[in-house]
Amino acid sequence: MTQHSLTHQHPAEAGARPGGAARPAHGDLAVVTHGLTKTFGKGEAARTVVSGLDLAVPRGAVYGFLGPNGSGKSTTMKMLLGLLAPTRGDVALLGQPLTRATRAALMARTGSMIEQPPGYGHLTGAENMRVVARMLSLSQAQVDRALALVRLSEHKDRLVRTYSLGMKQRLGIAMALAREPELLVLDEPTNGLDPAGIEEVRHLLVSLAGEGVTVMISSHLLDEIDRTASVLGVLAAGRLVFQGTRAALMERSVPDLRVVTPDVAALSPEEAGRLLAGLVAAPGVARRSADGLVVPGLAADGVAELVRRLVAHGVSVHEVRRESQSLEDVFMALTGGAGGL
Ligand SMILES: Nc1ncnc2c1ncn2[C@@H]1O[C@H](COP(=O)(O)OP(=O)(O)O)[C@@H](O)[C@H]1O
Ligand SMILES: [Mg+2]
Repeated sequence: MTQHSLTHQHPAEAGARPGGAARPAHGDLAVVTHGLTKTFGKGEAARTVVSGLDLAVPRGAVYGFLGPNGSGKSTTMKMLLGLLAPTRGDVALLGQPLTRATRAALMARTGSMIEQPPGYGHLTGAENMRVVARMLSLSQAQVDRALALVRLSEHKDRLVRTYSLGMKQRLGIAMALAREPELLVLDEPTNGLDPAGIEEVRHLLVSLAGEGVTVMISSHLLDEIDRTASVLGVLAAGRLVFQGTRAALMERSVPDLRVVTPDVAALSPEEAGRLLAGLVAAPGVARRSADGLVVPGLAADGVAELVRRLVAHGVSVHEVRRESQSLEDVFMALTGGAGGL
């Protein structure tokens, strides 16, 4: 999907502002990529792990970057931050192309945490923050604000090696936040957190987005970010298989159809196969349930035809209804249920 259709289809949720159409095309997008591709290795050993990504992250959004383990999330984020050179394609951040010449200035406006939370175990939280502050010329006020935002102020004088994983993640977020970035790129910041920790990070990200910070956050677990994110990008094996709002993702799905009939036991698998022939990709995907038949992936005209065939076959149809489908089901179908989902 191009950045244009994203903002045009979902102006409210995608964060487009009135008059946005009159701006330069990239004005309302904090991250834009075209054909972003990364191949590791050469010759026989070459493996393309990120392939032709066209990302569009609206300004002020919480963008959930989802995909199973190994789908290429970290590799993509490293390219967005200039930590890894793309094999092909380009990146623009905050309306400017990311190049060697612009990287330092763009990174001063971007906070990030990639893979493991940073921080020296033999230093306290406050000492770690001082290292970052010196590197980025931050004020004590900025450091204190960041520690308060992640609720680490009272633990700042403890050695980081005594921190829980959640506290280490929060310190990493504080380091990313202290420079008061316009763009925050966080790679699996909820990884390994308990539900309370996840909730806290969620809350923090939503309030940052409320202040206008664009947050891009990755996860291999949909439910860790689905309620937080206003826009989702779903990666499967290095390809972007979906980008848009949560609602648009739900629309993508065709929920299973449940046919309630007392006659299902009398239907042989061959008969059931004949009844479904040409309606679904593979009749084998239908399954019997205690009270009838469950058929996935059947569109409206397929439903009408199936009912006609059932009636013609003498099957008494008591009820035909759509099963509700969770976002998780849609996500699983999109990503093929691979990896750690
Ligand atoms: N430096 C590298 N050299 C070779 N392969 C790599 C390198 N970094 C990552 N990969 C591979 O690229 C794929 C995507 O990895 P990654 O971006 O870490 O996925 P994710 O963050 O979604 O789990 C994986 O198969 C991984 O093994
Ligand atoms: Mg990763």
